[in-house]
Amino acid sequence: MSERSRPLVFNAVLLPREPIRELTEYCDVTPWDSTTTMSQHDVVEAVRRLKPDAIFLSTKIVVDAKLLDAAGPQLKVIGTCSVGLDHVDLDECKRRGVAVGYTPGVLTDSVAENTIGLILATARKYKQGLTAVTDGTWGTRNADLLWMCGSDIKNSTVGIFGLGRIGTRVAKLLQAFGPSRILYNSRTKKDVDGEIRAEYVSFETLVRESDILVATCSMNPENEGLFDISVFEKMKRSAMFINVSRGVLVNQDDLYDALKNDFISAAGLDVTSPEPLPTNHRLLSLANCLIVPHISSATQATICRMIKLTADNILAGLKGEKLPAPAV
Ligand code: DGY
Repeated sequence: MSERSRPLVFNAVLLPREPIRELTEYCDVTPWDSTTTMSQHDVVEAVRRLKPDAIFLSTKIVVDAKLLDAAGPQLKVIGTCSVGLDHVDLDECKRRGVAVGYTPGVLTDSVAENTIGLILATARKYKQGLTAVTDGTWGTRNADLLWMCGSDIKNSTVGIFGLGRIGTRVAKLLQAFGPSRILYNSRTKKDVDGEIRAEYVSFETLVRESDILVATCSMNPENEGLFDISVFEKMKRSAMFINVSRGVLVNQDDLYDALKNDFISAAGLDVTSPEPLPTNHRLLSLANCLIVPHISSATQATICRMIKLTADNILAGLKGEKLPAPAV
């Protein structure tokens, strides 16, 4: 801990006081009073200057050799306020003996609820509907009973790609809507009997048979760009694609082409690449592509739980104890 009397936590996000109370009793936490995200460069330079014992960050900051070099060998622990770990080079952290904590479990319900919202909003054409309400189109097509007609979850085939905690919860919530089948594909076949009624199928079958294909997987180098035109071409033309995983899972140019050329009917995305998506991005020009700004875990209660768990991870790491939610 160098010559400091208390450990120093470098903090790259805006934090409410209560969830980090215990952490602040034991250490100094650098204040962060802006609502804008610190850039990667800002964080690297700040940790180079401050030589912290711990770093509190979110998915917006990449933890790589460069950041770890800048922070220095006194760095004991990194707490990422996320369940996703694709921004963290875990091997590099392990090699240097830097503990990493993350936030599995505490956000599952919120992410699953938002996923259901995204499915419903996409299936029932909320983007087009909101436009019609504001641009005066509403009421101009009274005789057309099929105007603004979407699709039901009931009697549909739902496919879940990545049946971890979040995918399982999504499947469970979806069951209440009465889909005819829930299919899933994951790295391994899961023992879900008793919890959900879901059928393990190959990726090919998932893609071909789903009416609603939901990606809830974690991101890894093998699945980057997996959802490309060769996948969208195989999907039903009436199918919709929902992504709450990571934007890089999808080849967005291909998704644009698939939506534009009616290879699939609609997409609902909580995640994009990059984030934020440039406001002139062509996906945003499509009426059948609903995009929200990566808000699946964004409820007050959940974010506070995630912050608290991140603080607890850091506290344990600083004390040399086992982290409550270790990633390495
Ligand atoms: C996570 O925790 O990884 C969510 O995607 C929010 O960033």
